[in-house]
Amino acid sequence: MQAQENIYQPSRMTVVSVVQQTKDVKSVKIAFIDPEEQKKFKSAFRVGQFGLYSVFGVGESVFNICCSTSSDVVEFCFRRTGRVTDALWRVEPGDVIGFRGPYGNSYPMEEWVGKNLIFVGGGIAMPPIRCAILEALENREKYGKITVVYGAKSVGELVFRDELDQWAQYPNVDIVKTVDPGGETPDWNGRVGFVPTVLGEAGISGSDAVALVVGPPIMIKFSLPVLQKLGIPDEAIYTSLENRMKCGLGKCGRCNCGHTYVCKEGPVFTQAQIARMPEDF
Ligand SMILES: Cc1cc2nc3c(=O)[nH]c(=O)nc-3n(C[C@H](O)[C@H](O)[C@H](O)COP(=O)(O)OP(=O)(O)OC[C@H]3O[C@@H](n4cnc5c(N)ncnc54)[C@H](O)[C@@H]3O)c2cc1C
Ligand code: FES
Repeated sequence: MQAQENIYQPSRMTVVSVVQQTKDVKSVKIAFIDPEEQKKFKSAFRVGQFGLYSVFGVGESVFNICCSTSSDVVEFCFRRTGRVTDALWRVEPGDVIGFRGPYGNSYPMEEWVGKNLIFVGGGIAMPPIRCAILEALENREKYGKITVVYGAKSVGELVFRDELDQWAQYPNVDIVKTVDPGGETPDWNGRVGFVPTVLGEAGISGSDAVALVVGPPIMIKFSLPVLQKLGIPDEAIYTSLENRMKCGLGKCGRCNCGHTYVCKEGPVFTQAQIARMPEDF
């Protein structure tokens, strides 16, 4: 009898590089040791999906895959918050960690072709947005104007800060970076103000646009009316949810909200879909 494949078995991955982004956030690139697993991943991966990353003997954690589909490595970015992320904080190039994925649904980038794209992010929420920004920039001719409004409490808490200026070099791309009042440094060359306020003042046209908004609940709450005022319908406002997860495969019931399994049917939802979910979500 043929042995059944173990769906919880992670792939073994070599750590290629680690970059400390802020005092408690690092981004990590990892490469498949088995070329066949790499091929399988490449053909399946779509931006917006997530993976489960494990430190052997410690446990697994869920993080968005924050690179574009052209990448030959898997990249993720995490905040040090607890047991697994403490262990991940100590990994170095050459170490071996585990990876399962890609899991979940993805951003409908093909449906977005020809549209203006508005990306709105706060703090550590950059990873689920970055993958879509990179994908759009690598296929620049497919999309209209790209606007990124990204903010953090302070300059030191912006992640992928160096890339923001590189993205601004692309044609018809507007990068608006901001920090909360009091979070600026003497050499800060961005805006000072909360993300929803800056979003409203950015001179964005909402015509034929889709928006991707990821960040703290308070930022999302106050950004939504701004986007709605620009004329963007709830069906065209996307977000990525981060419910607690365990299996990532629709088996354990840890992530569900009513009948919706966020790990299988999400993590990407439109505001229209979220509005139909139960109140306590
Ligand atoms: C689809 C998805 C994508 C995610 N993407 C990222 C990402 O790209 N980068 C990133 O840094 N984090 C991301 N997260 C959150 C991340 O999975 C948790 O922060 C991580 O698992 C914590 O692991 P830990 O063992 O270090 O912490 P634990 O020891 O398990 O917990 C530490 C603290 O974090 C809290 N916590 C744990 N999980 C969550 C969660 N899902 N939401 C809110 N609080 C939580 C716990 O209550 C506790 O207070 C994502 C989560 C999901 C579901
Ligand atoms: S995480 Fe297990 S069902 Fe979604």
